[in-house]
Amino acid sequence: MKILYATSEAAPFAKSGGLGDVMGALPPELSRHSGTEVAVIMPYYAKIKHNPGLGIEYVTSFYMPLAWRSSYVGIFKAVVTTKASGRRKSAKVTYYFIDNESYFDRDSLYGYDDDGERFAFFSKAVLEALVHLDFEPDVIHCNDWQTGFVPLFLKALYSDVPKLSNVRTVYTIHNIEYQGKAMPSFLGEVLGVDETWRNVCTQGNMINAMKTAIVLCDKLTTVSETYANEIRYAYFAHGLEAIIAENQYKTCGIINGIDTALFNPSTDAHLDFNYRPSALAGKAQCKAQMQEMLGLPVRDDVPMVAMITRLVAHKGMELVEWVADNLATMGIQFVVLGTGDPKYEEMFKFLAYVHPDTVSANIMFDPSFANKLYAASDFFLMPSKSEPCGLSQLIAMRYGSVPIVRETGGLVDTIAPLNTETLEGRGFTFKVFNAHDMLGAVERAAEFFKDKAKLKAHRSAIMKIDTSWKIPGEKYMALYSEIV
Ligand code: GLC
Repeated sequence: MKILYATSEAAPFAKSGGLGDVMGALPPELSRHSGTEVAVIMPYYAKIKHNPGLGIEYVTSFYMPLAWRSSYVGIFKAVVTTKASGRRKSAKVTYYFIDNESYFDRDSLYGYDDDGERFAFFSKAVLEALVHLDFEPDVIHCNDWQTGFVPLFLKALYSDVPKLSNVRTVYTIHNIEYQGKAMPSFLGEVLGVDETWRNVCTQGNMINAMKTAIVLCDKLTTVSETYANEIRYAYFAHGLEAIIAENQYKTCGIINGIDTALFNPSTDAHLDFNYRPSALAGKAQCKAQMQEMLGLPVRDDVPMVAMITRLVAHKGMELVEWVADNLATMGIQFVVLGTGDPKYEEMFKFLAYVHPDTVSANIMFDPSFANKLYAASDFFLMPSKSEPCGLSQLIAMRYGSVPIVRETGGLVDTIAPLNTETLEGRGFTFKVFNAHDMLGAVERAAEFFKDKAKLKAHRSAIMKIDTSWKIPGEKYMALYSEIV
């Protein structure tokens, strides 16, 4: 089986969020299955292009039409291998990069006025590249709106290319909020497909990349089962609920995993004190060091609650804002790491200014700091309004930080409510998107913190849960086999 992942980001080359993590970890995992060959194709962004240390080599180049344009497409590649370790087989993934200076030699991945055109270009170049490369995938697995037009181009413009005529497509929604919308003229002006495709590509009165892919793909997936159900409803679907419902016959949810080799408190080089489920002393040292570093009182009898997140409304910031003073004065240490909406950045800075002994606001993006904070914290707060899957709660558990989550999307599927008597379940949860329900969950967590024996037992238990890509990887393999 040959699989090509088309994506706008993949760690470690380029990453702005969870999609980058998933595309950094799922392809290598599948390459461990015998008989599979796995490649990833993504844009050649400035920071990849201008980093000679990545070992990327030139493959070929050509010109490609996109409506009335004729644009340069350069193809570069890097082969990334991971050695076998323990029972884990070795992995090998070929990364292809699509080069076009005017579209991708820019500082950021997204956020430009011509993003629609940039990723329409990319989506077509994915197929055109296959015409030139000697890699013939059985499946092209597309992700989010940026690659939503791949199934369209395949059907509209490449169906008579022999080596592409049997290719099947899988489309994964990592977040339904961002759909890739464009004006009606985009169809002819940029996509360059004829009017017979207008209906398929239109949602409301806009051209919509995600909708197009939902209709045209062979299999539709989202990153958790609960989210797959939720997006049949208007509250979650941002206008696509009817299309999702119509296409349910080909939809399924597959929960994400995390890279458990990368996120491993017993080997993590970002930590000055490593630890494992059976030897947790290092975790206490990480906490003391973090308190010291942040200027918080160094106390092991006060629970540290962490948030590592983008500071945006759908991550639940409104709830935090509503009860911010309660959180600051309820006898916990509340540590926030992240950037986002200036309104919430200011809110946290002000809160920390007023309550320097209990609140620490770290308005930055810093992966090394993040790992240290996962390790230092006792609890991890994730009060999302919606959450397709969420990876942080999985990482938190791996580092022995007990999740406090709202019951939505992937948080439902990964964090069963903890029974503090029997220690069944995983974390503290609340159902309704309500600030005081969240506060109640934090209070229950703080109460649980007092029972040292139970806390320790539960910590070790959640650290041992298999959140690797092994099981999700098998599910994707089964899905590909079904359609090929
Ligand atoms: C998006 C979602 C997140 C998910 C990630 C990877 O970032 O918001 O919930 O975990 O994609 O699929």
